[in-house]
Amino acid sequence: MKYSYIINNVRENEKTHTIFFDADFNAMPGQFIMVWVPGYGEIPLSLSYTGKPKAITIKAYNELGMRLINYKKGERLFYRGPYGNHFTLVDGKKLIIAAGSGIASMHPLIDDNSIVIESLKNGSDIIFEDELRDRAIFTTDDGSRGIKGHVIDALKDIKLDDFDIIYVCGPELMMKSVFDFLKDKNVRAEFSLEREMKCAVGICDSCSISGIQLCTEGPVFSIEKLKEMPEFGVSRLSYSGKRIFIKV
Ligand code: FES
Repeated sequence: MKYSYIINNVRENEKTHTIFFDADFNAMPGQFIMVWVPGYGEIPLSLSYTGKPKAITIKAYNELGMRLINYKKGERLFYRGPYGNHFTLVDGKKLIIAAGSGIASMHPLIDDNSIVIESLKNGSDIIFEDELRDRAIFTTDDGSRGIKGHVIDALKDIKLDDFDIIYVCGPELMMKSVFDFLKDKNVRAEFSLEREMKCAVGICDSCSISGIQLCTEGPVFSIEKLKEMPEFGVSRLSYSGKRIFIKV
């Protein structure tokens, strides 16, 4: 277990913060670290900044998350990693498709050569707004920002031939809807998946999907690889190892 000192804590919205920390390891967009919060447990988190400094962006939905978003400058962030593979970097035009906090793992990919489709519950959920403002198409459930609807409502009007690669991250049912929309089209696409992570080094199998371990062979998979993974969008293992089915 390593630790780095926290150098900034930026509030993105009510429950989402970006925690910057001073670390010198090399990392690529899409990789994750296992963050240990003493007294609360361990959680896998994608790196939202992979240069120097590095950062994680977390939405607090439990006590561990609340402790993390309240970390102060100068406190220690304990972690293992980075782990996993990463998004393929290309020089061409990129389409980034995200929902909710899925944008965090793709934040390092956003540049002048990218267009972002981001799907949110409502307009107040937006994070990284300064970077997204001029290059994002938003969809919201309640119509409070952008198109009222879901990611496919924006995607159907996009000319896919214009893009050299498509990156996707978000809740699994959203990714499955994007996968179904794209699977018969001639596109290059990569999806970052999420599963329970305990060891993160290929021992416990808690992160398996269709016999493939996310922590060692993912979390980023090509659309072609996803076609060989029938559990994608259908079922996952709970923390205790019970198979649960993914519902709308
Ligand atoms: S988290 Fe243990 S095998 Fe992947």
